[in-house]
Amino acid sequence: MKPRVYLTRRVPDAVMDRLAAETEFSFNSRNQNLSRDEFIAAVRDCDAVLPTVTDRIDAAVFVACPKLKVVANFGVGINHIDVATTTSRGVIVTNTPDVLTAATADIALGLILAATRRFSEGERLVRERKWTGWEPQQLLGQDVSGATLGVLGFGRIGQAVAHRARAFDMRILYWNRTRLEPGIELELGVDYRERDDLLAEADIISLNIAYSPATHHLIDGRALARMKPSAVLVNTARGPIVDEKALVVALKERRIAGAGLDVYENEPSLEPDLYDLPNCVLLPHLGSATIGTRTRMGLLALDNLLEACAGRQPPNCVNPEVFKEPPSC
Ligand code: 8YV
Repeated sequence: MKPRVYLTRRVPDAVMDRLAAETEFSFNSRNQNLSRDEFIAAVRDCDAVLPTVTDRIDAAVFVACPKLKVVANFGVGINHIDVATTTSRGVIVTNTPDVLTAATADIALGLILAATRRFSEGERLVRERKWTGWEPQQLLGQDVSGATLGVLGFGRIGQAVAHRARAFDMRILYWNRTRLEPGIELELGVDYRERDDLLAEADIISLNIAYSPATHHLIDGRALARMKPSAVLVNTARGPIVDEKALVVALKERRIAGAGLDVYENEPSLEPDLYDLPNCVLLPHLGSATIGTRTRMGLLALDNLLEACAGRQPPNCVNPEVFKEPPSC
């Protein structure tokens, strides 16, 4: 019997086709997020759900949807899912690492270039028909080539950012909860720094750490105060890692030179002053937004879902302890 699956948002066609062929599925065809009640009503009779980052999945969902056995997330970050409760209820959670590493690292590099070289300000000047011609001191930014990049969180995406940054002749420092072996640091051409030292030494800081209560507001007013006035902060990880109010103050008062943001504390709302700050490049959570990447994410989420529904441990299970007593759909 095919598993009953609910997909909370339409995904690329190749994934929809496979879902249609291999599951008994329904999906939210509106181009907007489901309310909590709609989510519960849709998922109540399903074996598995394929949610996105905008669906909050917590204890109330499991109480209302007792048949649910698998949460196959479309994305790598799972901070919107209460994994502890999920695990205690024997529900499998999976995610989609690796397939979005390159696309997310690419967007971090894009933001590094855009923020240091003031792309948004330049673009606005041209579009608003205010550009009156070349000037020797117009919109001067920071050098990327030769700059020191500090990567906070040195997992797959952090390492991919560092790899790309080397092509720009950047010097690379990293901080990670677990330090790499010296041989690996040498091979990757990176140096470890304590977090505060990295903040003070880097010209560009890229946040590539997972969000958890431990990393909430990791970049607060105190951390921002450690950064150089010429430094640029780039966040492609999760919004709440940065205290957005403190960031606005630092940008307004030019305590740091700029920021490039793909994620926000309360998406899709931003701290109101951010919208108007010239020294901030703002993207709408586009990290994995390529056709190829979103297709691979969907196919991987589906592979995970089908494996889990067949009672086997899926390749990207984030709570393998559930497999002591595997559920079946
Ligand atoms: C995804 C992301 O677009 O994978 C993640 O954690 O933040 C994004 O790249 C998003 O999760 C889609 O659900």
